[in-house]
Amino acid sequence: MAQVHAKTILSDCQYNIVKQLEKELQFLWCVDGYIKDAEREGNTKCAKAFREIKADEEKHARMLKGLLSDFQKSGK
Ligand SMILES: [Fe+2]
Repeated sequence: MAQVHAKTILSDCQYNIVKQLEKELQFLWCVDGYIKDAEREGNTKCAKAFREIKADEEKHARMLKGLLSDFQKSGK
């Protein structure tokens, strides 16, 4: 039911971008806690890995935001 509504409002591509952006932002919302947990446990390798993943996900989120902006500008 939700997909039927989504398709009348967004193209498949727009919908996929929104869904992926949501996933990226959910991760970014949580990742500082993951880093703190790793630091509290003295696991510098894990903290470093999450910092690197965070940087990658920030890049992906900006990329997806740019794609949404392109859709807005083109009106498609
Ligand atoms: Fe990503």
